[in-house]
Amino acid sequence: MPEPVPRVPFIAANWKMNKTIADTREYVPALLGQLDVGHAAQVALCVPFTDLASAVELTGDSEVIVLAQNMHQEEAGAFTGEISARMLLELGVHGAVLGHSERRRDFGETDRALQEKVPAALAAGLTPVLCVGETEEEREAGETQRKLRHQVQEALLHVDEDRLADVVVAYEPIWAIGTGRVASPDQAQEAIAFIRALVGDRSKAAAAEVRVIYGGSVSSENAAEILAQPDVDGALVGGASLDAQEFAKIVAAAP
Ligand code: 13P
Repeated sequence: MPEPVPRVPFIAANWKMNKTIADTREYVPALLGQLDVGHAAQVALCVPFTDLASAVELTGDSEVIVLAQNMHQEEAGAFTGEISARMLLELGVHGAVLGHSERRRDFGETDRALQEKVPAALAAGLTPVLCVGETEEEREAGETQRKLRHQVQEALLHVDEDRLADVVVAYEPIWAIGTGRVASPDQAQEAIAFIRALVGDRSKAAAAEVRVIYGGSVSSENAAEILAQPDVDGALVGGASLDAQEFAKIVAAAP
């Protein structure tokens, strides 16, 4: 048996609907100046559509990659207000966050659409960062695993086994997003190990390779402990990523 390839930690900033092009022009050089040489992580910036071109230009040939925060599943057509994979690729974008809980809750993003978006992103050569996670009520009712199973199985339904490891899955418990109530390292580890096992139901090889990351109130204070968990392969950082120095500290915390 060949040794499994170690999973490179994936540390991503999700700016959500924050920062203009002018802000991006300040942030990216500041971040590049703060990142430790030789840090262990792959670093990604998930930025608003309007900032993508500037972020790609400013990150240049640094190791920082740029992702969108959504993508439409169709190649082109009458979909007012939407952006296709080809449009993102043309800008030099590396991937897209898909199924963020804010999009599911506030903008009607469905598992059904994700079934098409995830394979469409992969087919185009983009890295999908698929977000899943339970509400507080679901956790309290003991429904966390049922919810995660449903979301992971649905969204990956049409992904071929040999492409499963190219997806990044972000476990983002909704009760931890923007609340300051970060999941405990044990809670993150348990849910992420469960998600890995779900991928393993499709392919053992993919389960060993797929990166499953944690999101929800990650900060430079709590990142190291969470990132040290054996199954936690990185972080998707909202609020704390808006400050370049704070985000650079989180990158530095990746083992
Ligand atoms: P916060 O880090 O602000 O809790 O946001 C997490 C998140 O939703 C990242 O996608």
